[in-house]
Amino acid sequence: MSESYSFSDIKDQVVIITGSGRGIGKATAKLFAAQGAKVALTDLDEDVLQESLGEIQKEGGEAHAIVADVSKKEDAERLVLEVYEKWGKIDCLVNNAGITRDTLFIRMKPDVWQKVIDVNLGGTFYCTQAAMKYMRKARKGSIINFTSLARHGNPGQANYSAAKAGIFGLTKTLAMELGPMGIRVNCISPGFIETRLTDAIPDKIVEQFKSRIPLQRVGKPEEVAMTVLFLASKMSSYVSGIALDVTGGIGS
Ligand SMILES: NC(=O)c1ccc[n+]([C@@H]2O[C@H](COP(=O)([O-])OP(=O)(O)OC[C@H]3O[C@@H](n4cnc5c(N)ncnc54)[C@H](O)[C@@H]3O)[C@@H](O)[C@H]2O)c1
Repeated sequence: MSESYSFSDIKDQVVIITGSGRGIGKATAKLFAAQGAKVALTDLDEDVLQESLGEIQKEGGEAHAIVADVSKKEDAERLVLEVYEKWGKIDCLVNNAGITRDTLFIRMKPDVWQKVIDVNLGGTFYCTQAAMKYMRKARKGSIINFTSLARHGNPGQANYSAAKAGIFGLTKTLAMELGPMGIRVNCISPGFIETRLTDAIPDKIVEQFKSRIPLQRVGKPEEVAMTVLFLASKMSSYVSGIALDVTGGIGS
């Protein structure tokens, strides 16, 4: 394959992946490290973060782990600064950290509403504001946010679907504002992916959901990771402002 049509530019990219102690974030970190990227791992949970770091290093990858809560402005700024001081640039930010706190709206307490907005939408805002400074100076960069199929609405997820719809709107707006600075902004919209986030969903609901998936199975974190790699590489050089569905065919 010709040099200009490959993922070779991932090598030596400095990539920050939030929530990379588990699930989709961890699979993404491992994939980027295997392509030769310098990967900044970050998570709230230090134990799983160290496990991710150990696995990547064992496979010969280059990574650095930072414990941070993305819903806190000072943590997001510290995280980005530490990565910049270590590696001197930031090519890609993957705003993957996310949580659910499901309950019907009629029973939803304000703190449960706020927490989900703060981590998903607030975390994306804080990390992006901190990282775009460096991308703007370099006049290049790729920001990849995580929305969800649930942004179209899902019973029991008023807080989560509001946050994920917000991330979609934020992505579209940032693609417009940052595009002239050479920065691409996209989001990924997974359907049902097997991770801790979906572990808690009762089997009956999983089976109902599965029956609606044209590919007739749920997705794996690695299958989402491959789409993140695409959006970070020059293979998507003219792609900005999209939500890439990774849903096994469920339409949005
Ligand atoms: N799994 C799915 O089916 C699915 C579907 C649609 C969207 N998504 C989105 O994909 C992303 C990854 O989800 P996942 O399924 O891998 O979840 P996961 O729970 O397996 O992993 C998420 C990681 O984020 C970390 N995290 C949580 N809050 C944080 C915070 N405040 N600061 C830093 N780290 C924090 C957790 O400790 C965890 O390690 C999320 O944004 C999620 O909303 C997942």
